[in-house]
Amino acid sequence: MSSKIAPSLLSCDFARIAEEVARVEAAGADWLHLDVMDGHFVPNLTIGPPVIEKIKAVASVPCDVHVMITDPLKFAPSYLEAGADTYTFHVEAPDYPAGVIECVKKAGKRVGMALNPDTPVERIKPYLDNLDLVLVMSVFPGFGGQRFISDVLAKVRRIRYDWGYDGDVEIDGGIGPDTIEAAAAAGANVFVAGSAIFGAKDVRARIAELREKADAASAAA
Ligand code: DX5
Ligand code: ZN
Repeated sequence: MSSKIAPSLLSCDFARIAEEVARVEAAGADWLHLDVMDGHFVPNLTIGPPVIEKIKAVASVPCDVHVMITDPLKFAPSYLEAGADTYTFHVEAPDYPAGVIECVKKAGKRVGMALNPDTPVERIKPYLDNLDLVLVMSVFPGFGGQRFISDVLAKVRRIRYDWGYDGDVEIDGGIGPDTIEAAAAAGANVFVAGSAIFGAKDVRARIAELREKADAASAAA
């Protein structure tokens, strides 16, 4: 399974989003990771459907929308219409997960489920057969630039190796040149990186470095 690198636009210059999208796409981004926060589910607020729609209009790679919101069911239609190619919501959100999954599938889009660092991996097991992607958070969601929590790798191994899940396993939070190999060896194949990409002097070289390390570590695993 080849590695996918998904820059998180949370760390981009929001005054120049279209240029930032073009910059990471030219540098080899596979997906654009778009972090939606509602100020309730997480203690921060970011972007909503109108901004996603503008990003989608200039994007040429898939838009990977990660919603850290209390009402993923209520807002799913808005984000899907705005252009989410993958809609990933949290298992900890109070909405009925099977309802969210059905809504996204009916729209013909990919659905993902995310779990926080302190959520037991068993919580997602009942839904695995119906998911295109599982997102394992390696920081507590809300902010970019936090330190990678390596304990979550046990969950990645469980999903990929013990349960044999063959969909996308995405890891998000604190991913960079020092942490990506461990995540890839554990079985992740989609790597979100915000500060490690947008904070790099040479974005193209950083994405290439991340991809090489991930591919090598997953091949050796
Ligand atoms: C955190 C977000 C992440 C974040 C990653 O709540 O879900 O996508 O932007 O940023 P870094 O790579 O800087 O940890
Ligand atoms: Zn995210």
